[in-house]
Amino acid sequence: ETGRRQRLLDAHKIAAEFFRDQLLSPAAAAARQFLSGRGFDRAAAEQFGIGFAPQGWDALLKHLRGRGFTDEELRLTGMFSTGNSGDRLFDRFRGRLIWPIRDIAGETIGFGARKLFDDDQGPKYLNTPETILYKKSQVLYGIDLAKKAIAKDRQLVVVEGYTDVMACHLSGVGTAVATCGTAFGEDHIKVARRLLSDDGTGGEVIFTFDGDAAGQNAALKAFSLDQRFVAQTFVAVEPSGKDPNDLRQSGGSEAVQALIGSRRPLFEFAIRSTLAKFDLSTVEGRVQGLRAAAPVVAEIRDGSTRVGYSQELAGWLGIADPNEVLRAVNNA
Ligand code: CTP
Ligand code: MN
Ligand code: MN
Ligand code: MN
Ligand code: MN
Repeated sequence: ETGRRQRLLDAHKIAAEFFRDQLLSPAAAAARQFLSGRGFDRAAAEQFGIGFAPQGWDALLKHLRGRGFTDEELRLTGMFSTGNSGDRLFDRFRGRLIWPIRDIAGETIGFGARKLFDDDQGPKYLNTPETILYKKSQVLYGIDLAKKAIAKDRQLVVVEGYTDVMACHLSGVGTAVATCGTAFGEDHIKVARRLLSDDGTGGEVIFTFDGDAAGQNAALKAFSLDQRFVAQTFVAVEPSGKDPNDLRQSGGSEAVQALIGSRRPLFEFAIRSTLAKFDLSTVEGRVQGLRAAAPVVAEIRDGSTRVGYSQELAGWLGIADPNEVLRAVNNA
């Protein structure tokens, strides 16, 4: 009910302020060092509301209890873990850098938390689990800051990480958002459609996944999404494997903008990544490449687009007769 929802929003707001204050404390020196080492100054930290979760088990717990929240409410926030018996609460995020995750209206609904040292306990990133407020299949980090630019430029840039969203915005790519440790799916498409245009058919969506294998697979997975969406989808991948934050650090804003400028249609990306696994300088490699790529092209639902990419594929394979490729696609 709305009363409960508002209580949880209030708890998040207070927690975000608590974490932000902690970032200024002496205990947060390593956290501040991490930020500046990543190329983020104080203004950037403030713009994104970055905070620090202190070590210990109950810093936030005590703070929120002191502000009148019941343990029942605190459980529902997802900010706390429970012991084996399930009765004791303790802070979920400890000794970590904190990104508040906000909804489109700018209300904090969850947190992303990164460890500061490789040998710290737990995974590199910890996120709020599924709660009344935080539905990970719908969350797009940065959407509150990006929504105006997305509507105006009719462009949505999807990156992998929190630091990548920051790097993009600070480099003049204000349309960037990130899923938070989850694949881009149908619920995200609905959000994207609403923002890009009234009828959901306009605008372009650019995925800038990491150049590593995980990033490539994530991009290819997008291929199996709603085809109307896929038709307006582009992929921008840095061959060196750098992500936008790495790029901003090595090459500044220009490098981030150049990455976005290098986007290719998702169809082209999917077909060419398939071909990249074969040695196309040999007859055997070209035959295998055609066999592997034909089913990818066959997935394109729009007829003339499918024929167009069949012809492209013939070119990429160095096959003189495009009909040969068309036949392979039709039989795939
Ligand atoms: N992620 C996660 N859990 C992990 C690793 C990653 O939820 N154990 C999510 C985070 O949202 C992260 C994103 O996936 O921001 C991208 O992962 P990765 O490329 O590993 O993180 P970077 O943001 O590049 O990490 P770093 O801080 O090292 O630059
Ligand atoms: Mn309120
Ligand atoms: Mn990665
Ligand atoms: Mn990355
Ligand atoms: Mn990174």
